[in-house]
Amino acid sequence: MTRVILIFGGTGDLSRRKLYPALYQLHARDKLKDTVILACGRRKLAREEFESLAGEFIKPRANQPPAAAFLKRVHYHSMDFNHQDDFRSLYGRLVELVPSQREMVLGYLAVPPAELEPVVRNAMRTLNRSQRARLRLLVEKPIGTDYASARRLNSLLDRFVGEHNVYRIDHFLAKEAVENLLVLRFANRLFERIWSRESISCVQISFSEQIGVENRAGFYDRTGALADFVQSHLLQVLSLIAMEPPSCMEEDPIKNAKARALKRLAPLRAQDVVMGQYGMGKVDGKDVPAYAHEPGVNPASRTETFVALRTHVRTPRWKGVPFFLMTGKRLGKSEGLVTISFRPPIACLFTPGGKEHGHTHKYSGRKAFDLGTSQLQIQVQPEEVFRLRFNLKTPEEALSVKPFSMDYCYSCDYLYQRLPYEKVFEDALAGDHTRFSRRDEVELAWKWVETLKQKPQLHHYMAGSSGPAAADELLSKDGFCWQKA
Ligand SMILES: NC(=O)c1ccc[n+]([C@@H]2O[C@H](COP(=O)([O-])OP(=O)(O)OC[C@H]3O[C@@H](n4cnc5c(N)ncnc54)[C@H](OP(=O)(O)O)[C@@H]3O)[C@@H](O)[C@H]2O)c1
Repeated sequence: MTRVILIFGGTGDLSRRKLYPALYQLHARDKLKDTVILACGRRKLAREEFESLAGEFIKPRANQPPAAAFLKRVHYHSMDFNHQDDFRSLYGRLVELVPSQREMVLGYLAVPPAELEPVVRNAMRTLNRSQRARLRLLVEKPIGTDYASARRLNSLLDRFVGEHNVYRIDHFLAKEAVENLLVLRFANRLFERIWSRESISCVQISFSEQIGVENRAGFYDRTGALADFVQSHLLQVLSLIAMEPPSCMEEDPIKNAKARALKRLAPLRAQDVVMGQYGMGKVDGKDVPAYAHEPGVNPASRTETFVALRTHVRTPRWKGVPFFLMTGKRLGKSEGLVTISFRPPIACLFTPGGKEHGHTHKYSGRKAFDLGTSQLQIQVQPEEVFRLRFNLKTPEEALSVKPFSMDYCYSCDYLYQRLPYEKVFEDALAGDHTRFSRRDEVELAWKWVETLKQKPQLHHYMAGSSGPAAADELLSKDGFCWQKA
């Protein structure tokens, strides 16, 4: 059966940087047989203009077919999403390309948030009931701009499309290291047994970016780091770490467990949140302007480009364990890290004169050891690394204990992985919802973000730094510091 991939917003940044490279990879793997791709945008473009725009970020590897053969398969249609008539002409174009009209259509909404509603309403009004039943819609984050708008959009999707045909994308859920969080926890008894307050002292989830707002200033300046990054990516990662074990590794039990973890998040208080905005500085040796001087940003903007926060998951498993989240733009490095820090060993064993079961421990009585914190670290980007840090003695005569690190570089072993958006397309084509967010997860995440009733003071930090000093103080108050890879 022929399938159609319809990209709404096919001339935009997301399509060019992520969607066409992912579709090209599927084409190179011969996964797009009997698939017609039609991209829609507002601009009127000649065929060659569209091909050069769509092909800019496609980088074939050795032995892969040329991009040109793929681009020939992508059709372009100019339209305005706000005009119902344009959807009728789009439908006419589809009939021309796929006359059978029994095809499954995968519509990808790569459009600005304000255009989501018009596209959904106008597309669904143009189709009859049986055509609607064959339409699956992929919706990009952010789903809404706050709790109320997310609910409105979800209700619209529910009414016009039906939850079973909606695929809400958070491409973080398609990153190998993030997917591996569940496997690491539940396929290794070793970790599941120590996954609680008994052994864990703190959890850190940090994603630093070197890039600034690039050409998304219009969107970003209205949104900020909390709504853009924390509400979606970081809370998805947090829920995978904090959730209780699902009854089985299937879609609904996993999503139920994630939603329950989100429901148990402690409300955000202003004193637990640090916000910052970057000033001018140097990133990777290059001078970069302050956020307020980026093209398209209001020079008086108070939008945060950095956020660090402390929260708790109010369940018996996590009682008293702080979860620290951090993300920011124009920081000194690009890195995604999840760090699970374990509690220190029983103190007396490694202190002078310490006793173990009534006997002087053979390692004690000489000096106190400056033990490192045992940690499990999952590095999500740039490389995917699973790292275990622990203390060992060294072979010197006098007893000395040092922290060591055992690293497994997953991305060194698996050099060619499917791209996150490649997985997104493949799963949606197969009708598999596992990798997509459910309505309640998205709404719970917005609800939690809105528990912050008042934005805290906005700190300034230099581009290329590690963020405002106040973010370090947030942790040091609890006796912690931000962990490095
Ligand atoms: N860019 C990213 O890296 C990224 C990452 C994650 C999520 N997202 C989300 O993905 C969505 C798209 O982002 P983007 O960065 O690709 O936006 P963008 O660069 O502004 O592209 C928007 C696309 O929508 C089209 N469009 C807008 N209004 C239209 C209208 N009335 N009629 C017809 N076409 C219209 C534009 O066509 P013209 O160009 O022809 O005007 C363009 O193709 C947003 O919701 C964004 O938040 C983006």
